[in-house]
Amino acid sequence: MVSPNEIEIKLYEAYDASYQVFLKNWQVNRQVALDLMQKHLNPQPPQVAVLSVGAGPGDFDVQVIDTLKQKISKEFKLRYVAVEPNHLHRQRYEQKINPSDFADVDLKVHPEKIEEFWTDEKFDIIHYTHSMYHMPDHEQQLVQKAMEMLKENGFLLLTLDTRDAVIFDTIFKYAALTGEGFTDMLQMEKMQEIVDNLGLSYEVVNYPEYMDVTLCFEENSSAGKALMDFFCQSDSSQLSDEQRQEMLHLLASNISEKDGKKLVPLPAATMVICK
Ligand SMILES: C[S@@+](CC[C@H](N)C(=O)[O-])C[C@H]1O[C@@H](n2cnc3c(N)ncnc32)[C@H](O)[C@@H]1O
Repeated sequence: MVSPNEIEIKLYEAYDASYQVFLKNWQVNRQVALDLMQKHLNPQPPQVAVLSVGAGPGDFDVQVIDTLKQKISKEFKLRYVAVEPNHLHRQRYEQKINPSDFADVDLKVHPEKIEEFWTDEKFDIIHYTHSMYHMPDHEQQLVQKAMEMLKENGFLLLTLDTRDAVIFDTIFKYAALTGEGFTDMLQMEKMQEIVDNLGLSYEVVNYPEYMDVTLCFEENSSAGKALMDFFCQSDSSQLSDEQRQEMLHLLASNISEKDGKKLVPLPAATMVICK
């Protein structure tokens, strides 16, 4: 494994801080992906094996494990492999997947980036849940690699935001204002083109999700700064006061108020590609 350098460690720490605030304020719909997993799962005894790529701090994987434990009969052993290069996410993950609740799960967490990960194991389910954004130019190769790592009845699930998600506007605005950050980021529509080019068939389910951005409008709020960092995918303290106002204006122009919350749309979609 290639160890992260000092810059990467700093980036992982910043990403972890902002993703924690993001998760708390995200009106996320994890159920669609869970339902698709249950619909397509057709395992052969003795084992159901899952690979989670970019597992993050584990919030979703806990739900996946709980769902699969209810779905599969006692004759199956659940094997769950997570790939997560961020050391702080891995720490949270290992705390969340509490050994006493998950004693019957054969869990392994790998610290590599997926591009550096290798196994000869085969999986029933491989999922990239909101993680393929971070592997630019490797998407096609990673889909091909995933298809090879699936069992005969296996399937790949890819969850990503769709083009209309406000976060793409804020990320690109940050880049235009500062000359730094990302000028391109993967969206589900682009992912569909990549999978089309590979000649693979798939099913896509679209659904709405929202983010409560109230904190971003609070002066001198560290949580608000962390959330804005996520919307920039960079350090928002690089923005001048005037540039910050422009970012807030962009968010404000997309807000709908509900139950005292300032919600912006982050629509998402989940794609299933069967082997
Ligand atoms: C938006 S988070 C999603 C976390 C989790 N799947 C979820 O839905 O909450 C993206 C994750 O991808 C991970 N990631 C980034 N680059 C990666 C790579 N090259 N290989 C594997 N994971 C990566 C990040 O560390 C982060 O945990």
